[in-house]
Amino acid sequence: MNLTELNKIAVAMVQPGKGILAADESSGTIKKRFDAIKVECTEDNRRDYRELLFSATDAMKNHISGVILYDETIWQKCKNGTPLVEIIKKAGSIPGIKVDEGTKPLPGCPGELITVGLDKLADRLPKYYEQGARFAKWRAVIDIGAGIPSHTAVHANAHALARYAALCQEHNLVPIVEPEVLMDGDHDIDRCYQVTEWVLKETFQELYFNRVALEGMILKPNMAIPGKKSAKKASVQEVAEKTVRLLKNCVPAAVPGIAFLSGGQSDEEATAHLDAMNKIGGLPWKLTFSYGRALQAAPQKAWSGKTENVKAAQSAFAHRARMNGLACEGRWSPDLEKKAA
Ligand code: 13P
Repeated sequence: MNLTELNKIAVAMVQPGKGILAADESSGTIKKRFDAIKVECTEDNRRDYRELLFSATDAMKNHISGVILYDETIWQKCKNGTPLVEIIKKAGSIPGIKVDEGTKPLPGCPGELITVGLDKLADRLPKYYEQGARFAKWRAVIDIGAGIPSHTAVHANAHALARYAALCQEHNLVPIVEPEVLMDGDHDIDRCYQVTEWVLKETFQELYFNRVALEGMILKPNMAIPGKKSAKKASVQEVAEKTVRLLKNCVPAAVPGIAFLSGGQSDEEATAHLDAMNKIGGLPWKLTFSYGRALQAAPQKAWSGKTENVKAAQSAFAHRARMNGLACEGRWSPDLEKKAA
């Protein structure tokens, strides 16, 4: 492992004013997104859509430090034959790769999931590195409900995350460690706080036991936020204050940066929360975004599968990237959204 190099990449991934584009939807997930805009989910359409994003030069150069790709995409070429990885690099952004293989039911734990893909991971990683990837992602999913999460699910997922992270570092890829506590339930913000605190404590303990160098990784957590069906809403300020307090209690200062997932928040909520946290300031790590839906919902809608809409889709993407770039530095305000509208 070359820790100096890993640290350099991790620091670049969370550089001021920039964040990560999570474009690593599996073919099943991107089909759901395409269904919503009535676009057929073919390999060519997936390629055209992602080519549109990665060739949005202003957004990429100014606000996107790295792109998480799905296995299919890392091997794909643009219409003109240039590998997609090359347009990402040309824009000064770092290609990354989702390496988990999704989730399976966790035996003995009804309703809970374990992320799979560790078998043969050591054989796959050097191929991704050779193809240009310099970081990887693994997502664990923890649901909140009656009697869940169980200790079994929290522990098994934290262990798998740590095994993955150690393997990545061994192969000189920066691991994005993503333990996602879902916001699907009716729980309030304090229950989310409690569960996320447990999950993060367990994750960092397993990272330590598996000898992961914290300077060479990025954490991708959820925010402390009420479940979507909760009757108790939380203000932007409450989400920001509780999330910062939670992270300060769980994430060692050696970690270069924290890049949030959006998890089903609206585009503007995801931006407002990130901005409010950075306005609090005085944090030991960089706080940025690694959004999927909150960066792509607008361009997907604008595109709707039509070539004549490519420019409009690219400007919708550039706008969200710029808003989130400002939020990374606590320089966003709601009227910037209105001005663009
Ligand atoms: P969302 O921002 O849509 O939650 O996606 C981020 C991600 O990469 C989930 O693994």
